[in-house]
Amino acid sequence: MTWSASVLTLFPDMFPGPLGASLAGKALADGRWALESVDIRDFAEDKHRTVDDSPFGGGPGMVMKPDVLARAIDRVRDRGAAARPIHYLSPRGRLFDQGFARRLAALPGVILVCGRFEGIDQRVIEARGIEEVSLGDFVLSGGELAAMALLDAVVRLLPGVIGDAASHAEESFAPGAYADLLEYPHYTRPVEFEGRRVPEELLSGHHEKIRAWRLAQAEATTRERRGDLWSRHVAKQELKKKVTS
Ligand SMILES: C[S@@+](CC[C@H](N)C(=O)[O-])C[C@H]1O[C@@H](n2cnc3c(N)ncnc32)[C@H](O)[C@@H]1O
Repeated sequence: MTWSASVLTLFPDMFPGPLGASLAGKALADGRWALESVDIRDFAEDKHRTVDDSPFGGGPGMVMKPDVLARAIDRVRDRGAAARPIHYLSPRGRLFDQGFARRLAALPGVILVCGRFEGIDQRVIEARGIEEVSLGDFVLSGGELAAMALLDAVVRLLPGVIGDAASHAEESFAPGAYADLLEYPHYTRPVEFEGRRVPEELLSGHHEKIRAWRLAQAEATTRERRGDLWSRHVAKQELKKKVTS
């Protein structure tokens, strides 16, 4: 069955957007995944096609109405997406990461809700079992770019999308030795660029030396830039030592 994404948005024309280009775009054209964008406004029932209203309790901005969104979700589910999880892109959500992407890639697909304005009414989140997911601790003006980033991260993990599956094995956050590490730096020709030479280890042709150098670089970068990941990496290494001793 084709991995399928339904995106509920007030700006359906934004899709596929960047997802129609390069790797994800080719995979979409080849039928390795499917994408539909659903216009939430089509589910408004008044003549002004109203999708938002002012917040109870006062304050700035507008809130997306629960009834309109619920109708849009129900329609998508009725059309056969009931087995897919539903996520609302939101700065209040659980942080999206590579593990999240891997889990989604293993499911039949996903339904994504893109917010605008101040966000969506809490009751539709509860009533439709929506899980919130955040791209990071910053505020975008809408969920569409976040949905695109999430889909890009998932689609490249689908079978056959990246020709060389080995590319996944050593990239940042890959399962195994690199699970909690940022990737090592990359170099290509020329051997010398503006007085900077490619590290000698990479020119040695000695596979074990290259592997060890790359791992050491990944560890040093992670320790310097991401204390949170580094602590996890060290804790796992210590546990492994204990288990094997
Ligand atoms: C202007 S934001 C709403 C911000 C919200 N009032 C708050 O302070 O948390 C509008 C929409 O952008 C999307 N959005 C903003 N930041 C995001 C993030 N970090 N991750 C995922 N989606 C985000 C959400 O769909 C949100 O409903």
